[in-house]
Amino acid sequence: MSRRTVIRGGLVITASDEIHADVLIEDGRIAALAATGTPAAEAFGADRTIDATGKYVIPGGVDAHTHMELPFGGTFASDTFETGTRAAAWGGTTTIVDFAVQSVGHTLREGLDAWHAKAEGNCAIDYGFHMIVSDVNQETLKEMDLLIEEGVTSFKQFMAYPGVFYSDDGQILRAMQRSAENGGLIMMHAENGIAIDVLVEQALARGETDPRFHGEVRKALLEAEATHRAIRLAQVAGAPLYVVHVSATEAVAELARARDEGLNVFGETCPQYLFLSTDNLAEPDFEGAKYVCSTPLRPREHQAALWRGLRTNDLQVVSTDHCPFCFVGQKELGRGDFSKIPNGLPGVENRMDLLHQAVVDGHITRRRWIEIACATPARMFGMYPQKGTITPGADADVVIYDPHAEQVMSAETHHMNVDYSAYEGKRVTGRVETVLSRGVPVIDQREYTGRAGHGVYTPRSTCQYLN
Ligand code: URP
Ligand code: ZN
Ligand code: ZN
Ligand code: ZN
Repeated sequence: MSRRTVIRGGLVITASDEIHADVLIEDGRIAALAATGTPAAEAFGADRTIDATGKYVIPGGVDAHTHMELPFGGTFASDTFETGTRAAAWGGTTTIVDFAVQSVGHTLREGLDAWHAKAEGNCAIDYGFHMIVSDVNQETLKEMDLLIEEGVTSFKQFMAYPGVFYSDDGQILRAMQRSAENGGLIMMHAENGIAIDVLVEQALARGETDPRFHGEVRKALLEAEATHRAIRLAQVAGAPLYVVHVSATEAVAELARARDEGLNVFGETCPQYLFLSTDNLAEPDFEGAKYVCSTPLRPREHQAALWRGLRTNDLQVVSTDHCPFCFVGQKELGRGDFSKIPNGLPGVENRMDLLHQAVVDGHITRRRWIEIACATPARMFGMYPQKGTITPGADADVVIYDPHAEQVMSAETHHMNVDYSAYEGKRVTGRVETVLSRGVPVIDQREYTGRAGHGVYTPRSTCQYLN
């Protein structure tokens, strides 16, 4: 028996349109849209009607950069797939793409299997995987082809973290050459980690141990240099490139220049770079540790370049890089040595609201909000139009969003498994009211009605965004 839901009277916003329309959902998919009040809409019959009058009806968020349970710096990111995907749902995100990790000396297959085991049966929303490639060798290169067949079509490499995730230029070039052949997309952590490690050692030798020095040694110029190098390596290989967590003005300039030259290079930034700064890293009493992530938070002046990049499409995606570590017991590992603070910020629950606030503040339009948070990440990572839009045939991943509700972000009320909020006390306008994942209510009028195991692995095709 088919199950039908109709969402009536809301403003349906996609990357391309804003229309007052009723949305018919059947068997977990969008079945039809019709302008509200027209005979076509009135004819929609359903078992359940959701009144969205005065609300936005938007595609569920696609967060293409999360790290649930990531092992890092001798500890693990504090959100499991269960807690992290539940928090994502609370924040209006219905798909995550998390990073499976190949450890040095192991195969991609081992890493991917381990991440499937962590996620399967535990997720409240749908999920896919990218693969972190830490050990490029002949075997790894062959395995990339196999992973693409299983829907893991993007591979992250690191120019930072020597001895952990780091790849040298030769390894990067080889992976890029492979992706030029097999259709994979290389995602780059662009920071010159070899140079940064020298600066870390010198800072610590001078007794500069506070969290704020994390921001000082990881220089904007070393992000820009690595971004430039990654772009040119990709150009030599004839491969597209996606640069993750772009934070520096100078790095945006490298992307803009390459795009002006017609290269297929893309950039992602994250809410923390748009809303936070080195002022947070400098908070006293080791509180700055809460804001340690890489690339690091930058002086406030960099934010204008990021907003401009989002408007000019030199940056295409906003993901969270959600990688939470509790202040107590985890961030504290770096008391007396900033280099031992586990890197990462919580945010999977906050992204859609912060970007709606950006609409309220006039940085971006409503359609651009949906484009950078839903449609483009879905396209970039081969899930469109199944995810990221509201159109007949798409998965019914739909959020009813109240654009007038006021909220104050706080660790007291958030659902992420972490003991602080990076946005503690921040007032934002707009709030998720109801979330459907493949037609099933996961959040129902601000009550959690989802379950671990509803979310399923979502294999992806190759990048659908190449111009
Ligand atoms: O600080 C961060 N970003 N932690 C997560 C790992 C990464 O580099 O994305
Ligand atoms: Zn092994
Ligand atoms: Zn990274
Ligand atoms: Zn990351």
